[in-house]
Amino acid sequence: MASRAGVIGGSTRIVGVIGDPIEHTRSPAMHNAAFRALGLDWVYLPFRVAPADVGTALAGARALGLRGLNVTVPHKEAVLPHLDRLSERARACRAVNTIVVHQDGTLSGDNTDVPGLERALLEAGLSRRPAELAVLLGAGGSARAAVLALGARARHVVIAARRPERARALARELRRATGAELSAIDLADLAPGRATGRDVLSRASVVVNATSLGLHGEPFVPLDVASTPTRCLFYDLVYTRARTPFLAPAARRGRPVANGLGMLLHQGAEAFTAWTGRRAPVEVMRRALARAGR
Ligand SMILES: NC(=O)c1ccc[n+]([C@@H]2O[C@H](COP(=O)([O-])OP(=O)(O)OC[C@H]3O[C@@H](n4cnc5c(N)ncnc54)[C@H](OP(=O)(O)O)[C@@H]3O)[C@@H](O)[C@H]2O)c1
Repeated sequence: MASRAGVIGGSTRIVGVIGDPIEHTRSPAMHNAAFRALGLDWVYLPFRVAPADVGTALAGARALGLRGLNVTVPHKEAVLPHLDRLSERARACRAVNTIVVHQDGTLSGDNTDVPGLERALLEAGLSRRPAELAVLLGAGGSARAAVLALGARARHVVIAARRPERARALARELRRATGAELSAIDLADLAPGRATGRDVLSRASVVVNATSLGLHGEPFVPLDVASTPTRCLFYDLVYTRARTPFLAPAARRGRPVANGLGMLLHQGAEAFTAWTGRRAPVEVMRRALARAGR
């Protein structure tokens, strides 16, 4: 087993991630630890691919016999026209984060951010019983997967964005893809003292941040945390620190909180299984992710 010995040989199977930039990725640490743990002769590599080169990169993956790819910012939408098949959730999200290169050279695309977030929310303590209401902050790329994940867990998902017209467009577009009711509000309405925000937040079982706010430690917009039920879960897709600027005020008020490492882990575990056909060694991957962040 070449990769178990740390040696890449002629039979080593190659997977990887494309993005731009790519230097920050923790996925190689997570997947290579999993391959080693299962004694698989596989290796996972990061590839920086410029936006203009996405099609060429996928043709190259096929030609070089790669087994699969993860896709990260800013390519999750751009890969779509280059794929032969899409899963239902990838089609609904119009975003792909996992590609499988099949034996016949065809490429299929999936969005494992959807089950990844759902699993992470359950692991962070969200009840398995359907919630009355979930709040999603942001209407960008990852919000699309988050709408589907939250729609599977709540009867009503309220999307709040600084440009409410983007939230409304997202709600319109994904309405048919989820069984949940979708509605849109202005992110500013969730500040303390606003009646709309108080009404929404007082019924929320979970508030998910899918904005990029807080990624570099910058302050989060004011949120009326006090109006949420005491067991309302605050979940941040950002994972650069344990208590992100979104999570810190909620934690101070005793609300359960979790950062996006769980989502990163579980989307990766789904991709691992799609490529190898093996059950992912989730705890090995979790430890590797934590080490990669130090
Ligand atoms: N944990 C994971 O596995 C995972 C997976 C995917 C993404 N992420 C993280 O999720 C975050 C979002 O990623 P993305 O791909 O969705 O990014 P994106 O497509 O650029 O969307 C960013 C969203 O944040 C909003 N936003 C940015 N600055 C804001 C501000 N100052 N005030 C209010 N809203 C603001 C944007 O609003 P506008 O549209 O008005 O600009 C947009 O809705 C990133 O931090 C990313 O690292 C984590």
